[in-house]
Amino acid sequence: MSSKTNAVLNTYGRLPISFEKGEGVWLFDKNGQKYLDALAGVAVNTVGHSHTYFINGLKQQLDQYIHLSNYVNIQEQEKLAERLVKYTNLESVFFSNSGCEANEAAIKFARLYASSRNIVNPEIIVMENSFHGRTMATLSATGNRKVQAGFEPLLKGFIRVSFDDLESIKKISEQNKNVVAILVEPIQGEGGVKLPKNLNHYLSSLRSICDENDWLLMFDEVQTGIGRTGKLYAHQYADALPDVLTSAKGLGSGVPIGATLVGKKITSIIKPGQHGSTFGGNPLACKAGNLTLDVIENENLMLNATIQGAKISHQLREALKDFSGVKDVRQLGLMIGIELYKPCTELMTIALKYNLLISVTASSVIRIVPPLIINDEEAQFLVQKLKELVTDFLES
Ligand SMILES: Cc1ncc(COP(=O)(O)O)c(C=O)c1O
Repeated sequence: MSSKTNAVLNTYGRLPISFEKGEGVWLFDKNGQKYLDALAGVAVNTVGHSHTYFINGLKQQLDQYIHLSNYVNIQEQEKLAERLVKYTNLESVFFSNSGCEANEAAIKFARLYASSRNIVNPEIIVMENSFHGRTMATLSATGNRKVQAGFEPLLKGFIRVSFDDLESIKKISEQNKNVVAILVEPIQGEGGVKLPKNLNHYLSSLRSICDENDWLLMFDEVQTGIGRTGKLYAHQYADALPDVLTSAKGLGSGVPIGATLVGKKITSIIKPGQHGSTFGGNPLACKAGNLTLDVIENENLMLNATIQGAKISHQLREALKDFSGVKDVRQLGLMIGIELYKPCTELMTIALKYNLLISVTASSVIRIVPPLIINDEEAQFLVQKLKELVTDFLES
């Protein structure tokens, strides 16, 4: 079938490739050529492709039932919620189907919190260069004009500050009595794998500011979550327990699921009927979440992300250190960004010739987010191919 058909709405630029099967960190095209999947469905395929334990578990769920309604108790949902709550020290989980829905719920909960405090025009502090999704509320929260253009009027109620800038937030706290929450990614993913200068200091200072002002601290860990950075959630590197935490992407290893975890500031005000989702928390998606956590635990994938991520970034820095075109290599766990001085979006296509699947964010940052199961040999292949790709590109 031609890939030039208009049947699928033209919202993505597609790479000139399709795949026949996946196995571990590898994808195979119809000619049997294999590609290292350093994109992982955009930080989704936590356990890689065709993971035997994961697939067998999903098959069992398919045989039992795929979907029930949220009018009944769903065992896999309760089990997953209990595990996430235990991992994070939060209280409850609302399940949805994607990252934007997880954030949409967070934004609604912040408004409910405002309403419980009689604040009629609530505002949420959000960051420049952030990404929170494509629904109206989440694109309004997003700090990227390209995502917003054409969809005005945007939702009101967001105040924007620079990422990693505590002073601006402190100033706002002195002047603005309508603020109810801060929504922030601990590491900006779509914004170019940007880490705060000091993750612990930034997040724990945000926690203190929120405590002083009775604001909710809301972390968007849609991309940084589920072991990607070496902890289940990146904020766990800091002394900063959030009030709201959003998760999706890697949680279902490819089966769509979103989760909004909340503490008691939200559990104490939310009532039945105030939020919902037909598919949210369905048995198949929650089974995928539980199986993903099983594999992370059984195969020590958080430790693997820490070890492989450090090794890959160290070797990349060594390999690229003499190239003046390379601005920076940033990394935490298996979330790695190579920033060049020039735009390099075309590298996504060029990388296929080097048997690599990668992405480029913020126009000049090569983003590497492979499955967390990547082993030594595969990491070596990845570094070697990236080195060839980047040096050939910069020398051309
Ligand atoms: C930090 C962050 N939040 C939210 C989203 C939106 O997730 P989804 O595409 O599943 O709606 C993304 C997706 O890239 C993301 O990186």
